Amino acid sequence: MKRACLLAVALTLGATVPRAAAPAITIDASAPAGKVSPLLYGLMTEEINHSYDGGLYAELIRNRAFLDDAASPAHWTVVHGDGAAATMALDPGQPLNAAIATSLRLEVTQASAGHAAGVANDGYWGIPVKPNTRYRASFFAKTAPGVTGPITAAIESEDGTTTYARGRVSGLTQAWKQYDVALTTGALAPTAKARFVLTVDRPGTIWLGLVSLFPPTYRNQANGFRPDLLQMLIDMNPKFLRFPGGNYLEGDQIADRFEWKKTLGPLAERPGHMAPWSYRSSDGLGLHEFLLWAEDMNAEPVLAVYAGYSLKGAYVKPGPDLEPYIQDALDEIEYVMGPATSTWGARRAKAGHPAPFKLTYVEVGNEDFFDRSGSYDQRFAQFHAAIKARYPQLQVISTVGFEHPENQRVRSLTPEIVDEHYYRTVDAFLRARGQYDKYDRKGPKIFVGEWGAYETPFEPWNPRSRGEAPTPNLRAAIGDAAWMTEMERNADLVIMHCYAPLLVNVSPGARQWRPNLIGYDALRVYGSPSYHAIKLFATHLGDEILKAGTADTDVLVSVTRDSRSRRIYVKLVNPGSAAAPVRLDVTGAALRSTATALTLAGDPQATNAIDAPDRVVPQTSQVTGVASGFTYTVPANGIVVLMLETR
Ligand code: AHR
Repeated sequence: MKRACLLAVALTLGATVPRAAAPAITIDASAPAGKVSPLLYGLMTEEINHSYDGGLYAELIRNRAFLDDAASPAHWTVVHGDGAAATMALDPGQPLNAAIATSLRLEVTQASAGHAAGVANDGYWGIPVKPNTRYRASFFAKTAPGVTGPITAAIESEDGTTTYARGRVSGLTQAWKQYDVALTTGALAPTAKARFVLTVDRPGTIWLGLVSLFPPTYRNQANGFRPDLLQMLIDMNPKFLRFPGGNYLEGDQIADRFEWKKTLGPLAERPGHMAPWSYRSSDGLGLHEFLLWAEDMNAEPVLAVYAGYSLKGAYVKPGPDLEPYIQDALDEIEYVMGPATSTWGARRAKAGHPAPFKLTYVEVGNEDFFDRSGSYDQRFAQFHAAIKARYPQLQVISTVGFEHPENQRVRSLTPEIVDEHYYRTVDAFLRARGQYDKYDRKGPKIFVGEWGAYETPFEPWNPRSRGEAPTPNLRAAIGDAAWMTEMERNADLVIMHCYAPLLVNVSPGARQWRPNLIGYDALRVYGSPSYHAIKLFATHLGDEILKAGTADTDVLVSVTRDSRSRRIYVKLVNPGSAAAPVRLDVTGAALRSTATALTLAGDPQATNAIDAPDRVVPQTSQVTGVASGFTYTVPANGIVVLMLETR
């Protein structure tokens, strides 16, 4: 009720009122001041906060390959009823194969019909169960002599008293073989308080490997994505996807980097790896899946290649030592965009995608200003030369932007594009107005590959920030929107940008960072106020920058136009706690008298949450009295996209 009142007040104030004294915003629509980069809004992603495992990647079994912990089968437990008994242990002596060099040995010492024993997996903070849904379970198994099964696969309640879906396989042998079981639920109330179990009803020894459970995925793609989460991303209209990181590209040590070749092919050939955000990655979402993900969103990949520096400071010396890494990057680029007749293009074709993916931008490393050895200048130059020699059409991005001292930047050549990262307080983003006006238009283009406002006293990487809500409040969204006006006004120079981090599993213990854009648990998903702000801006953009001058106002503004429809988008951000009337003086266009306002406003402390996903969401209203000079009142703590129609 409180929110509804606030919004009602805000929207009333948003009407046009003739107020001569209002500060002026002048908009020159006679000619564009520049072109909006067609890739301006995109997404940045990496494995952090269980973005993929326990997030976008739809696999439901946690520690499916039994490699998460060498000491014990984490997330697996023995289950048995009265009159049954079993034990389980990791068994590296019976590996599934060379890539997955262990298995789970299940010793059932006592079991009979109606008294089964086996193992259960608790999933990523539960197994989401939905009504009338078909799940695909699969696992590798082999048995001790004389044991043939059957094995029952089931999704059941956490306490085992309710079975939601069940299937069985039989005819097991002493050789590893993969078994598939379809599990279909009936009518039920959705719940994540569930587990996946594999049980037998007779004594014997069974080894299990790579146990998997998939719900329906986006477009039913095999090894695919959670549809609700992917839809949230598609709705943002992203034009590119920056992957695989972020720190995730580099790993803590060189051996922990994102080794894309180990993320290809059948899941049983992917060992996974230790990621820098404190948990192992299954690599089920590997290079090929990143590319499909971008394609599903109709977005271009922005491929970051490992550049010989890892987070804890180890680096590869430029020169001959770096050559294998450069070759690896060239192979990776070939996988993405090479013809199906090339070595790595053929691997892509074998994986089901003969057509090359579109690739324009390759980023060399991530945040290499952390490399205090000073080797980045030479490493970048070596990668740049090799990439350009083979793919002259590609644009190569340096990871050190102008926010860092000159001696940390690439100096031996001028990069075409530099990546700048800004994690700033709301106030710092408000003060950043005019930052890009000062940049040399003849210098490198800017990619703001990570940015986000925080509104708490804690920096995003400070562990104390984890006590705060996982996603930002409206005040942070105002900082974000202010920053977006700065980037939009300079969208000739800032050719791409993306908020980070994108995703967070809000379950206890799942996250390493705050704030994050989109929150979810096993069953539900929601967008933060910042999500709605970015979506509003990205889906109302156009292709021309119009010059907008401001005087005597704290309201931040950017103005763009769609050259085909001639619609003008005026973005207004009021960071103040009072409504702010502004006079809009538009020259060079004949305006229709009514316009549409999309508004995100209210209590700056308000935020959305998994149990309250819609506290702060955009409202649509009509604006009347629009003319070449008119006063519009921007609501307090408000973000507005004003759509002006022209005649
Ligand atoms: O977005 C979180 C982290 O912030 C990224 O992994 C890293 O590039 C940056 O420091």
